[in-house]
Amino acid sequence: MDFDEVIDRRGTHSSKWDTMEQVYGVSPDDGLAMWVADMDFRPPEAVQRAVEAMAAHGIYGYFGDDRAYRESIRWWMAERHGWEIDPAWIQTTNGLVNGTAMCVDTWTAPGDGVVLFTPVYHAFARVIRAAEREVVECPLAVRDGRYEMDFDAYDAQMTGREKMVILCSPHNPGGRVWTAAELRGVADFCKRHDLLLVSDEIHHDLVLPGHAHTVMARAAPEITDRLVMMSATTKTFNIAGAHVGNVIIPDDTRRKQFAQRMAALGISPNSFGLHMATAAYSPEGAEWVDALMRYIDGNRRIFDAGIARIPGLASMPLEATYLAWVDFTGTGMTTEEFTRRVERDARIAANHGTTFGKGGESFLRFNLATPRVRVEKAVGQLQKAFGDLQ
Ligand SMILES: Cc1ncc(COP(=O)(O)O)c(C=O)c1O
Repeated sequence: MDFDEVIDRRGTHSSKWDTMEQVYGVSPDDGLAMWVADMDFRPPEAVQRAVEAMAAHGIYGYFGDDRAYRESIRWWMAERHGWEIDPAWIQTTNGLVNGTAMCVDTWTAPGDGVVLFTPVYHAFARVIRAAEREVVECPLAVRDGRYEMDFDAYDAQMTGREKMVILCSPHNPGGRVWTAAELRGVADFCKRHDLLLVSDEIHHDLVLPGHAHTVMARAAPEITDRLVMMSATTKTFNIAGAHVGNVIIPDDTRRKQFAQRMAALGISPNSFGLHMATAAYSPEGAEWVDALMRYIDGNRRIFDAGIARIPGLASMPLEATYLAWVDFTGTGMTTEEFTRRVERDARIAANHGTTFGKGGESFLRFNLATPRVRVEKAVGQLQKAFGDLQ
């Protein structure tokens, strides 16, 4: 668990490092990749051993018997999140963007509205629009420098064409761990407007010390008939390339509907993903995540302290995720100007806030899941790029 080790990812088909120049014009030779949400760390050794065992065996045939895989998810959910699930509730998709797309495909029709609390993870809107459904943006309110939901405003916005809500819990970007009361607010909103609730909880293990995530099913057990919960090992353990995700559907009828669409589209997971995920959801994996979050917390403190010293910049207080959401409003600069300074002057590739929907225009998102020296370097380069504001 040496999170300080700097591993050169360039030339490995890393989306984050090997496409940053194409996307942001920042060369990986002298720039910092702080965008795509994966980490510059190796996963727990248990995961490495699982892959090594597969490679040593050297036969990569069809996967069969997923009981150990299902049991590992059941165990993790009970042990880490206090939610007792039946392993039969789990549908395995090729990651959670795929899981989201499958939910949209299964339970909505072209022209239907799908509600998002924006700004939010950009792939939700991409999937909804590509499927020719309508994105209904319910803007999050900023109160005391953090995001909150405003259900009175959302109630007034509903037209009756909405069929589904996709919730990001904990929230990306913005790093909120929604409280049980807030989650019950979402559940009540879904009941009032007869909406299916897809709760994407992919960041649920990445919670910073002092905060605790509540799974939606525990916050609002009365809505399990309209709840689809999504979770994954990929974000938690940095194995996103394995493309494997859990779509947990407690309701029998809904689960059958989902399984039928999966069968119709011929979707089944790959064996690497299943082996890696099973190894990750283990006591060894749990120990690794706890150490990871202590390290991320250290990075976050250094980053936030550095940002606080630049007049006009404000980093939202992170409760979960390793993604810092920085507001540039106070600089008085246009989006083009502050983005140019971050990319050309500070040599940092960070996600543009505009891609997350309404309310993201004055923000950039910085990935802090990288060795501390890189976070320190980023802070120094940002302070220099905005030095004239000091
Ligand atoms: C909320 C959320 N859902 C899903 C994903 C991606 O999921 P996957 O890689 O399993 O498709 C991300 C990646 O950052 C995310 O933040």
